[in-house]
Amino acid sequence: MSQRQQFKGRSAFIFAAIGSAVGLGNIWRFPYVAYEGGGGAFIIPYLTALLTAGIPLLFLLYAIGHKYRGSAPLSFRRMSRGTEVIGWWQVGISFVIAVYYAVVIAWAIRYVGFSANQAWGDDTVSFFVDDFLQQSGDFGMGGGWVVAVGVPLIIVWVFTLVVLRAGIQNGIARLSQVFIPLLVAIFILLVIQALRQPGAAEGLNALFTPNWAALKDSSVWVAAYGQIFFSLSIAFGIMITYAAHLKRNTNLTGSGLVVAFANSGFELLAGIGVFSALGFMAQAQGVQVAEVVESGIGLAFFAFPQIVSTMPGGAVFGVLFFVSLVLAGITSLVSIVEVVIDAFEDKFNLNRTASVALIGGLMAVVSILLFPTATGLNLLDVTDHFANSFGIVGAGLTIVILLSWGLRRLRVMSAHLNEVSSFKVGTTWMVLLTVITPLILGFMFISELVDTIQNGYGEPAMPSWYVNTFGWGMSIGLIVIAFILAALPWRRGVVEAEAYELSQKGANR
Ligand code: PFF
Repeated sequence: MSQRQQFKGRSAFIFAAIGSAVGLGNIWRFPYVAYEGGGGAFIIPYLTALLTAGIPLLFLLYAIGHKYRGSAPLSFRRMSRGTEVIGWWQVGISFVIAVYYAVVIAWAIRYVGFSANQAWGDDTVSFFVDDFLQQSGDFGMGGGWVVAVGVPLIIVWVFTLVVLRAGIQNGIARLSQVFIPLLVAIFILLVIQALRQPGAAEGLNALFTPNWAALKDSSVWVAAYGQIFFSLSIAFGIMITYAAHLKRNTNLTGSGLVVAFANSGFELLAGIGVFSALGFMAQAQGVQVAEVVESGIGLAFFAFPQIVSTMPGGAVFGVLFFVSLVLAGITSLVSIVEVVIDAFEDKFNLNRTASVALIGGLMAVVSILLFPTATGLNLLDVTDHFANSFGIVGAGLTIVILLSWGLRRLRVMSAHLNEVSSFKVGTTWMVLLTVITPLILGFMFISELVDTIQNGYGEPAMPSWYVNTFGWGMSIGLIVIAFILAALPWRRGVVEAEAYELSQKGANR
């Protein structure tokens, strides 16, 4: 246990946590969710979600990792023997998310180059889907491996594994300390260029004009909570893993507040940049902003290339945008791969090199074989939906219910937080986690479940064998694998875990 690596100091940890939080979700998801959710009025559900669930859960996860000092499975195991499986569930979800998230970063790398000469021509959609990704449009797993996607994907994985091999402090923290300031600087240049275009003001009006009626719609509130969970990287196991590498005396809640507000600040900046650019495009095409609004892949790989082609100095704008996606994406990717690597290191007594090579290598191979194929885009779509709606939300729900109603550990956790932190938590924090968070997460989980069971998945609906295999099959498979991994004997941690339990018997409050 003494060999567990540590963050050198609080700022190293804060940078790593911001690196994890600030990702594709901030840039391509937030602006759209805010716009759809009432524009300026969205500030109310957004802040409510942040204060009533996002930050309280963030504190709880820090407390788990910091008190029990292990990867997700080891932390849960130390908390209570039978709960190790939850940690492995998170590891499985992180595995799945990492293998597709890396692919988006690979696309963005390629698009930095495409921006220079606007390689996409006039039809950006068909360029992306047909020429670049070479999608067959059907769901067969046959077809070739697309070199133009595969090569940057290999680069992403080699880079990620080299960083992880260097460790928590020398790899992850250092990477974030360089990439996050760089990202902010580049993004500010992008925002300035976007704001100077004609039509930018209309874009901002579209984003910020409040539509108070939207607040009556429960789906807007659910979207706000969903955005906060995804954006803060909650329930992936990342925060437990990182907090386990913190020195004993670290101001946990103070750090959490810095991370949460930095993440929201970046979301706001991204909203301004994205909507100024959309306003410009709408004006250039002589249409309303509402007609050009997009999110996710459509925003980054269909709309932005059009903007780049239309704007004077578009090449620079494109490079700034796609480099931002790469920087934001890589710092999130390393965090989620670390969840998996750390867990195997703990359980099977692997050293760093072995865990990075074996487990990181396995993730890289799966990602590189499956996604640069003729069905890669569909695969990414379905795994993303299931991993988020059922994986992350399900794991988050299980954890809050377990700690508040099952093991009744919130008091112990709040005592732990207050012992080391500046910002104290008390009854309000416990009530939020006992009542509000489980209700919201439960509602999200059940409504998505009912919707997906009734309507299937995809626009237009994907074939059921495909959804059954890569959606439901994958989700249930992860749970089965989690039970198997939890049942295997510990190679390192168990002696340690029991010694720890004993040492806590007397000391435990
Ligand atoms: N907070 C991240 C984001 O906004 O993109 C969520 C995330 C996704 C973290 C995927 C890590 C990851 F690999």
